[in-house]
Amino acid sequence: MSVAVLGLGEMGSALAGALLNAGYPVTVWNRSADKADSLVAKGARWAASPEAAVTAAAVVIVNVKGGAVAEELLNAAGAALAGRTVVDLTDGTSEQARATGRLATGHGADYLHGQIMTIAPAIGSPDAVVFYGGPRAGFDRHAALLRVLGGRATLVSEDPGEPVLYGMAVHDIMWGLLNGYLHAAALLGTAGIRIGDFAQQAHPSLSALPSLFPMLAEEIDRAEFATPYGALEHHLPSLDDLIAESRARGIDTDLPTYTRTLVAEAIAAGHAHDSYSRLVQRFARG
Ligand SMILES: NC(=O)c1ccc[n+]([C@@H]2O[C@H](COP(=O)([O-])OP(=O)(O)OC[C@H]3O[C@@H](n4cnc5c(N)ncnc54)[C@H](OP(=O)(O)O)[C@@H]3O)[C@@H](O)[C@H]2O)c1
Repeated sequence: MSVAVLGLGEMGSALAGALLNAGYPVTVWNRSADKADSLVAKGARWAASPEAAVTAAAVVIVNVKGGAVAEELLNAAGAALAGRTVVDLTDGTSEQARATGRLATGHGADYLHGQIMTIAPAIGSPDAVVFYGGPRAGFDRHAALLRVLGGRATLVSEDPGEPVLYGMAVHDIMWGLLNGYLHAAALLGTAGIRIGDFAQQAHPSLSALPSLFPMLAEEIDRAEFATPYGALEHHLPSLDDLIAESRARGIDTDLPTYTRTLVAEAIAAGHAHDSYSRLVQRFARG
């Protein structure tokens, strides 16, 4: 199975390197030719244009900065794409992924969009996660190759936009957790407590947090928010304490104040006895 890799930035070079290591014949193209040197030294073939690279391969991997650039390269390859599979691993929005898909299929190619969930040095590892969207037949045909890039390659939908949303959801959750962790570190820091010491002592409490996700998921999916314990009304006094403590210690109060506003609004709307998952309706409103 011959592969073309268009784009040899940090990530594209890692993708091409993993394919070479696995023994695939790889043709590479990049706007700045010098970035291909180390890959060519490892056995990759250099192509002088996106079209020449595509012509040499059954599978075309695109990994550049921004969907507009990906579209530009695929348009440059044009009719040469017919009968090949384009695997677009360029980050963007879900609609951008669909638009690039329409462009590729318009030129007669199959199209898979992949959302890479790891940093470049982890490409090729069995634990690297890549979410894919596109036709199942295309994914299945190339599953072995895709698992060379990331051992945990999975097709999440036939819609090429959906893996983008999966990736964004992971990041959305990550930023929420990180902000809470760092706010806590600042709070503890004002008392001379190192976050590392705290994390060690509090490990049972912290490691239990992800176990809340399946429970919340069930409530959200069923749109049933009644709960016998941990109701929203019990969050309010703790949030007030955290805000008062933060203020007294001279650290940021915006983050806990925002959370308090969400909780107070839900209580005012009559949801005091509901689970925290009730707040999903507030986020859904925009
Ligand atoms: N790096 C990571 O760890 C990582 C992790 C997850 C996802 N990603 C995603 O992977 C994609 C590539 O990221 P990267 O980190 O490899 O970026 P990068 O190192 O900055 O490389 C960007 C690539 O895009 C090319 N490019 C930019 N503008 C171009 C244009 N107008 N015409 C042609 N080529 C153009 C660059 O070509 P030149 O070399 O000529 O500038 C280079 O090949 C992005 O969507 C990124 O979000 C990266």
